[in-house]
Amino acid sequence: MEVITLQDDGQAVSLVARLLGDRVRSKPDIVLGLATGRTMERVYRELSRSDVCFSSCRTFNLDEYIGLDASDRNSYRHYMQHHFFSQVDIDPANTAVPDGNANDLKKAAENYELLIENAGGIDTQLLGIGVAGHIGFNEPLSSIMSRTRDKCLTPVTRAQNAGMFGGDATRVPKRALTMGVGTILDARELILLATGSAKAEIVAKAVEGPITSMVSASAIQLHPDCKVIVDEEAAAKLKGREYYDYVFNNEPVWEKYRR
Ligand code: F6R
Repeated sequence: MEVITLQDDGQAVSLVARLLGDRVRSKPDIVLGLATGRTMERVYRELSRSDVCFSSCRTFNLDEYIGLDASDRNSYRHYMQHHFFSQVDIDPANTAVPDGNANDLKKAAENYELLIENAGGIDTQLLGIGVAGHIGFNEPLSSIMSRTRDKCLTPVTRAQNAGMFGGDATRVPKRALTMGVGTILDARELILLATGSAKAEIVAKAVEGPITSMVSASAIQLHPDCKVIVDEEAAAKLKGREYYDYVFNNEPVWEKYRR
């Protein structure tokens, strides 16, 4: 794992957008795993304004609320259409979001896993982190081996996401269909972005704490190629900062991104 701390959220967002752009340039038919949430909005904005060509990409989103139609403005399908898919040259047929409105959720989850497998697996998976420690919607006690399935959201997560539902946490769906922690760990590369002081404690737990199903994001420690990109506020509780900064400032692979 590498942890890169940048001065502010704008710089952290830009680095993630640059990394993703470079991945697409070097492999135009890349399979991307995508995330939603407030943090990612600006990543998609930067990518949309770039000259990156997404026409041969395939994408798989991490999660979707259960019971919301794709056309619902609070659904993650709608979010992706609005913030990204409609802004770039991606083929809509190559974009996948779990079907949270399926009659048979178990079947929908199995199909999603199969779809990822048939696409050759995910090359690069973008991740945010929730204050409850989730990646995707893998709430506390999600097995580290878990696959795509339906999951009950914690009150903490529903409160975190209330902003998209007029500030009313009771309007946030109680369940979601999400890639599992195991599904996420199968991606060939993980890039986790976290900004702001509200994420400082959970970022420290995920990066430096014990690997535990109580903090699903701690499973990223098991991944051989994981980059965590944070701003100063989100990095505030990390104990090993000095070394992480040293690596970023000295590893040749990061040279072009230091500027
Ligand atoms: C959403 C997702 C979540 C979010 C996380 C952070 O697809 O996978 O894990 O990334 O809840 O959300 P924000 O950025 O809104 O704080």
